[in-house]
Amino acid sequence: MEELDRCLITGCRASQAPIWLTSWLRSGIKCMRPFTVTRNIDRSECKIRQAVRVKAIVTGGAGFIGSHLVDRLLSDGYSVTVLDNMSCGRLDNLGEHRDDERLVVHSVDIRDLKRLGELFRGHDVVFHMAAHADIRASLRDHRADLENNLIGTLDILEAMVENGVRDLVFASTSALYGEAFAMPTPEDYSPVQTSLYGASKLACEAYAEAYTEFSPLRFWSFRFSNVVGERCRRGVIWDFVHKLRRNPRELEILGDGKQSKEYLYVKDCVEGMMTGYGKTSEKVNTFNLAIEEQTIVDRVADIVIEEMGLRNVKRMYTGGSRGWIGDNPVVVLSIDRIKKLGWNPKVSSEEAIRRTVRWTLNEVKG
Ligand SMILES: NC(=O)c1ccc[n+]([C@@H]2O[C@H](COP(=O)([O-])OP(=O)(O)OC[C@H]3O[C@@H](n4cnc5c(N)ncnc54)[C@H](O)[C@@H]3O)[C@@H](O)[C@H]2O)c1
Repeated sequence: MEELDRCLITGCRASQAPIWLTSWLRSGIKCMRPFTVTRNIDRSECKIRQAVRVKAIVTGGAGFIGSHLVDRLLSDGYSVTVLDNMSCGRLDNLGEHRDDERLVVHSVDIRDLKRLGELFRGHDVVFHMAAHADIRASLRDHRADLENNLIGTLDILEAMVENGVRDLVFASTSALYGEAFAMPTPEDYSPVQTSLYGASKLACEAYAEAYTEFSPLRFWSFRFSNVVGERCRRGVIWDFVHKLRRNPRELEILGDGKQSKEYLYVKDCVEGMMTGYGKTSEKVNTFNLAIEEQTIVDRVADIVIEEMGLRNVKRMYTGGSRGWIGDNPVVVLSIDRIKKLGWNPKVSSEEAIRRTVRWTLNEVKG
């Protein structure tokens, strides 16, 4: 661990100083740097003479959401170690931090337990974003979710316990609710699975929960709805832009165009994770992260067509209420639990979709 500046706390009783310092860290109040108290040398003056920079691992940190999380952690003062096998990740997602010595990137698969052991030592928290996250692809490859998601998470859990890393913050998904009957769907809903991807994420959560029973591990799970924004290189917006660039007169839409989802802006998603992680400290903490705004696929098509400056585009529907097997046609998550901690998305779904389209057009224009 790296030693940082001295830190003087005034205005509280000496015995409370370390508690204050750690609770600032976890309460979402923005400090110049995050500190972990290791020693309170002079209690009478409330001086914390030795403090350390929090060291985070981000698995999948070169991917879409992971790279935005890395941006945020570095700006909050963390040291960050990214572990990514680069199957979908890209170094240019982290390009703006090229010269930042606090960021180290390792090209490694999370199922390489031996390497994980070497790399986890000395870290405080793992943000586990790496996953096989393509529901349609797992219809062809039935082992992909099991191996990348569940076995990968099991290896992360083992490496954490072996190396004394206590906090696991996990990127979960609304897909694990299947086609829920209860809407808005709360975190304690008992779901029926409709995809191998959703099933694997639910199993990851179950494993992590079980680990908290026999180890000091603490677990945060954030179940995201559809996340969009800059660096998003898959999903409906990426698909529509590419189809329309190939043929600006016609757009194939999977399903009937009426699938209704919540599109959460990526920076709001990251803010939600940091809020939940900062403000709760149960052994197991589970939150939905979504936006209370529904957008149907046809409306996404409207925005893409508008932003591309196209007219008279003929829409061809493949039919059925689902785009593919495992596509849940309506997703409405309850976000009451995370809202009670003071989080609310700032960017509307329409604006998030528009920003993503603009970024995508800029990205593919070359
Ligand atoms: N994008 C969304 O709308 C959404 C919604 C719900 C949940 N999630 C979850 O959020 C997380 C991030 O998703 P994303 O959209 O940024 O996806 P992404 O594919 O851009 O990022 C995943 C990253 O993990 C890496 N990775 C995959 N398998 C790996 C392995 N075995 N070892 C090491 N690295 C590996 C990939 O190279 C990639 O960089 C995932 O866990 C995903 O399931 C995403």
